[in-house]
Amino acid sequence: SVYDNQQVASVAVAARIAALIRSKQSKGQKAVLGLATGVTPIGVYAELVRLHQQEGLSFRDVITFNLDEYYPMKPDAAQSYVTFMYENLFSHVDIDKANVHIPDGTLEQDAVAAFCLEYEHKIEALGGLDLQILGIGRTGHIGFNEPGSAPNSGTRLVTLDDLTRNDASRDFGGKANVPTKAITMGIGTIFKAREIILMAWSKKKAPIIKKAVEGEMSGDVPATYLQLSDNVEFVLDEAAASEL
Ligand code: GLP
Repeated sequence: SVYDNQQVASVAVAARIAALIRSKQSKGQKAVLGLATGVTPIGVYAELVRLHQQEGLSFRDVITFNLDEYYPMKPDAAQSYVTFMYENLFSHVDIDKANVHIPDGTLEQDAVAAFCLEYEHKIEALGGLDLQILGIGRTGHIGFNEPGSAPNSGTRLVTLDDLTRNDASRDFGGKANVPTKAITMGIGTIFKAREIILMAWSKKKAPIIKKAVEGEMSGDVPATYLQLSDNVEFVLDEAAASEL
């Protein structure tokens, strides 16, 4: 879907998340959400906070799994995705901390593989992700699945692309401070979600959205693999859709 601007698009995505949470709650079940970071979903999280504060939306029975985290990364660092998620969403709603899952950037390297396997198992044990929201990086990455990622990849440690580290350099006060690695859910992990929403706003994302939607499917642009799934919706503003 294409919306006039990112504000109305964000409100629409938040409304879908809220409807999912409420429908699960009415059946006595827990919604399992896959969440993303970056500037793209900030408006969605702001609207979810508003729905919590003003319209009684409760996150008590909501379970979340974040897509990724830099590696290494301390959770209390300003640039960590833990900090991002608490600042933009979790600190403002009634979610139970025990239900929040974010890849652990503090592990020793030899403990990462077991952690990643366990991350997958936890998602499966809860019946899988009901909804995964995604942004897209200019390399065509989803999560931190950079070019070369396999369509059936699982949660794992990856090396970040140069362009991704350039784009992150502002947050870190210089590219040299941007970690070279990250832990990310795989493309295969993302694919198992029952519903996937990829959001993109602004002219800056128009070329990669054109490639992702209309380009030939290829590991060079990991987001093109989304063309394989029937459960994916692209939610765009006019600017991001302008090259389609
Ligand atoms: C980061 C995140 C991705 C995100 C991408 C785009 O690399 N790991 O999950 O989609 O950036 O970020 P932004 O939304 O800030 O453009």
